[in-house]
Amino acid sequence: MLAWHLDAEHSDHRFGEVPDPVPGPGDVRLSVVTSALNHMDHWLTVGRPRPPSFPHVPGCDVAGIVESLGPGVTTWAVGDEVVVNAAVVPEAALSRGVDSVLDPGLQILGEHRWGGHGALCVVPAHQLARRPKGRTWVEAATYPVCSTTAWRMLRRGRLEAGERVLVTGIGGGFATAAFCLARHLGAEVHVTSRDPAKRRRALELGAAGAHDSSEPLPVQVDVVVESIGPAVWDHVVRALRPGGRLLVCGGTSGPTVELDLPRLFYKQLEIIGASCGSQEEFSDVTRFLEEGLEVVVDGVYPLERYPEALQRLRAGEQVGKLVLEHTKGGTPA
Ligand SMILES: NC(=O)c1ccc[n+]([C@@H]2O[C@H](COP(=O)([O-])OP(=O)(O)OC[C@H]3O[C@@H](n4cnc5c(N)ncnc54)[C@H](OP(=O)(O)O)[C@@H]3O)[C@@H](O)[C@H]2O)c1
Repeated sequence: MLAWHLDAEHSDHRFGEVPDPVPGPGDVRLSVVTSALNHMDHWLTVGRPRPPSFPHVPGCDVAGIVESLGPGVTTWAVGDEVVVNAAVVPEAALSRGVDSVLDPGLQILGEHRWGGHGALCVVPAHQLARRPKGRTWVEAATYPVCSTTAWRMLRRGRLEAGERVLVTGIGGGFATAAFCLARHLGAEVHVTSRDPAKRRRALELGAAGAHDSSEPLPVQVDVVVESIGPAVWDHVVRALRPGGRLLVCGGTSGPTVELDLPRLFYKQLEIIGASCGSQEEFSDVTRFLEEGLEVVVDGVYPLERYPEALQRLRAGEQVGKLVLEHTKGGTPA
């Protein structure tokens, strides 16, 4: 098949032929209609993490049409329109419900196994959800990684309607997903960004306040949704109300932060890490999409123009998700 792939460590992606992936027992093979970028697309090119083998096909967010079934699959049929939960776990782990993503066998699509920036993608059948009714193929590719992670964070962070939330780095795909979800759940949402134009855009999208990430924050909040790390850490810890919850899923500006312990215990803060989402959480988010959860699309590129989209992500120019369109795929269900 034709796919974007890495064929050596610390290289950039190349577009060309790689072997067709073969569905094993319990797998389905999808004809990919849309896939979306994440910061992982960039991390892989700098060896953080190193792909497990080469060639490696990236692409964590995938929506497509079931093209063929591996042995034993009875739950899906050729032609079904589906979206993939990128947090791939062994089927036995599903019995752990929302904790299935704590399974040691967890693999992230596009990181630990081939992803979806190619014509075909093979995943276990139990990772699929039906494409949300009434949503386009572009919208379907925006939510598996970012909105599902955001839901796991907000659920674990016990967000309640009416609480005040701060989402850092609003340009990012994850941050825009968390912003939309927190608003969907009835929170008052403030954001940070380095870029005045992105702060204006966030206000247009309904943010209650938009603040410069590099300065002390003028608000006190119940919950912070954080993915940037050291560049904003001190400001966001100070912005938490006593008893506040700091929810963390990434460290775009670096992996290490300093924590002022008296601030943590006197203010009785909680820090909660979260990564990906279980199949239950993915189903919840699929339902939220059907209920009208907003998603923010920064741009749609034909598959061949992946490097342009990746350059925009690396430069931090985007507001929302960057989506690759492989085929037209049809109209919304
Ligand atoms: N654990 C998980 O399951 C999971 C899932 C999704 C994402 N993540 C993590 O979340 C992070 C964001 O991912 P993404 O795909 O949304 O990436 P992205 O689209 O590239 O967004 C990153 C955003 O971070 C902000 N930023 C970057 N460097 C910064 C700096 N030095 N100082 C201040 N702000 C900075 C920028 O926002 P502004 O331009 O608005 O300032 C940028 O738009 C990554 O670290 C990713 O690994 C983790």
